[in-house]
Amino acid sequence: MNAETVVRALGRNLAEGLFPADRQLIPNLNDIYELELAFYENLVLSDVELVRNAAYFAQVGNHYTHHFRMCAGESLKLPDHSSSRLKSFFEKNIFRTGYATHGLFPYRGKFHPQMIKGLMNVMGLKPGNKVLDPMMGSGTVLVEASLMGIESVGIDASPFCRFMSQTKLDVLTMSLTRAKGALTHVEDVFAYFQKKVGKPLPSSKHPRGHSSENAMNVMEETAEYCAKKDPRSLTDMDRDTLHTYHFLLLAYLDSAGYAERSARKNPFDLFRAILERYLFVAEKIQKAITDLEMIPAPAAVREGDARALSLEDNTIDGILFSPPYSFAIDYLANDSFHLNFMGIDSNALRERMIGLRGRNLSEKYRYYQEDMGRVLSECSRVLRPGCFCTIIVGTNSNQLGKVFGVSPDQVQGLHEILIDMGSGFGFKPVKTMNRPIIGISNTMRREYILILQKQS
Ligand SMILES: C[S@@+](CC[C@H](N)C(=O)[O-])C[C@H]1O[C@@H](n2cnc3c(N)ncnc32)[C@H](O)[C@@H]1O
Repeated sequence: MNAETVVRALGRNLAEGLFPADRQLIPNLNDIYELELAFYENLVLSDVELVRNAAYFAQVGNHYTHHFRMCAGESLKLPDHSSSRLKSFFEKNIFRTGYATHGLFPYRGKFHPQMIKGLMNVMGLKPGNKVLDPMMGSGTVLVEASLMGIESVGIDASPFCRFMSQTKLDVLTMSLTRAKGALTHVEDVFAYFQKKVGKPLPSSKHPRGHSSENAMNVMEETAEYCAKKDPRSLTDMDRDTLHTYHFLLLAYLDSAGYAERSARKNPFDLFRAILERYLFVAEKIQKAITDLEMIPAPAAVREGDARALSLEDNTIDGILFSPPYSFAIDYLANDSFHLNFMGIDSNALRERMIGLRGRNLSEKYRYYQEDMGRVLSECSRVLRPGCFCTIIVGTNSNQLGKVFGVSPDQVQGLHEILIDMGSGFGFKPVKTMNRPIIGISNTMRREYILILQKQS
């Protein structure tokens, strides 16, 4: 045994072999795909760009990166009654998911924001470019792009997703004065929304509302009035009303969904805790934006259909999205409380939702493939030649195995199917990576990141 060789080898640090000595990786980076993305970020970005937009570096030379400074500090504030498993999940993931406005609504199937930032860098997207997410869900791509100074367009079939994404973007810059004021009348605000939106089931003890209900009514009427106007013609006061109302409403819907899932928790206590957390998150990111002198880039949020995009040919510099993983999640059932409140006809919407169309599971799967073909064709049409389309997808092999009567490992992966389909629309695969799924209650263990390039 050559002990000296062993000691010398163990004295080396993996990062030293991959990156120049003056770069420090972000803490808690421990998956292989994260190291891969850090490696590519370092190759694609200049030092100045790394400081401004890198997702996986904490320090470059003497400078702390914006990502590090934006996330560092106290982790996401959770209600006292949260389980220790949930608390430790957020603490460990402070640089991955627990920052900016991403934590405002726990949308199922949400991207992991740090990875999105890394991917936008690796795709060569820079301030001045425009990125599209044709199935934006809770708006993760838009919030990240905005913070990176990259313009974006987000589309989703669900009106609730449009509302949620727009609110997460507005919270980056809105005035928080009135939302903080609402916390001092939290019982009245809660009572107002209960009457307006409906009570979550099961309903336990609720406080009675009184004095500020009129104030809330005025706020709501003004908000509705403002929502109908051209956003460019709104006064600062109108915009403030609209944003505050949406912020409070999102907190209420979040708490109502939570209360329906956990019968033991008191809905009012949940609402107060969620509102406190929203304010904490909003103040933290707004302070970072001011301290780092960031100017969030514009984001256009639309309701629409990824199979028929209302965008011109060859106008987009990058596409980044995650489609439903066939029929694995029933997004409409998940959001039924919110959609009901918004007066949405779920049956009509179901016909437009990819993965949900069809009378039985094998028909759903057939429609899914047909629909995804249309989505890829549209992505190819709107993307500029030479630019990249990145898709994140996993396969619900257990469910599909049952449908086809085969074992889960015999099910063809959706990533392979999408690569094959993409080649029919001029997409060439340039990289496939995979990542473990770290969500708390996921049955899928792995998902794939496909980087496709539109051929000239
Ligand atoms: C996996 S989720 C996307 C989650 C998103 N990446 C995020 O970070 O929140 C898939 C989304 O596709 C949307 N969707 C389904 N069918 C659609 C269609 N025809 N057009 C646009 N969006 C659709 C669903 O509403 C859902 O929000």
